[in-house]
Amino acid sequence: MNNRWNTIIYKFWSPIYDNLFNSGKFLEARKKIFQGEKFGENQHILFVGVGTGADLELINYKDLNITAIDYSYEMLEKAKAKCQSSSIQFFKMDAQDMNFKDNQFDVVIASLVLSVVPDADKCMKEMVRILKPDGKIIIFDKFSPKGKKLSLMKKIIRPFINFLGTDIGVNFETLYESNKENLTVKQNESIMFKGMYREIVISKNSI
Ligand SMILES: C[S@@+](CC[C@H](N)C(=O)[O-])C[C@H]1O[C@@H](n2cnc3c(N)ncnc32)[C@H](O)[C@@H]1O
Repeated sequence: MNNRWNTIIYKFWSPIYDNLFNSGKFLEARKKIFQGEKFGENQHILFVGVGTGADLELINYKDLNITAIDYSYEMLEKAKAKCQSSSIQFFKMDAQDMNFKDNQFDVVIASLVLSVVPDADKCMKEMVRILKPDGKIIIFDKFSPKGKKLSLMKKIIRPFINFLGTDIGVNFETLYESNKENLTVKQNESIMFKGMYREIVISKNSI
């Protein structure tokens, strides 16, 4: 994947995205993640790769201090349309090189984005950089199985899935290993499709 292709493919996905990834099992998983989350009015929350704003619909976004970024103009426009009467700040920005200061956000939400950005490690490093100490990152995404290699079938279909704008081969454990210095994993659980999709909550250690 690269940003140029992501721009093209997510322009294509934008009109139908919610029908596929904001309904059925995906919507159930999102609801499970956000029903237990209570965000405070004094917290600054960042949605990385906000897409059409599927997660925003599940929280009391009108009362919160939210910034949301995405690289696709069309996906961002869908999210903006959903949250018209809100103070959410939307920016077209690369999640691998964010135009934010260090330690700026209390919460970072990254749903289905580490598997999409060209370089998940760069994106992870940026999320950690802009997160305040004691802040948390909530990840909902698909990762390759813990401690196992990708099956032959997945290796074969991986390039086709990449073409559609996402990667089934990102390994969370490898990502964590190269970023773990300042981090603690609070939760790492299967949320859908027998562990293919996980809910992961990470906190940034205080200095
Ligand atoms: C699978 S969608 C997930 C959208 C949303 N977070 C959700 O849960 O439905 C991936 C999103 O990442 C965005 N994206 C891809 N590359 C990006 C990048 N380099 N920086 C920021 N966003 C990016 C895409 O435009 C798309 O909206």
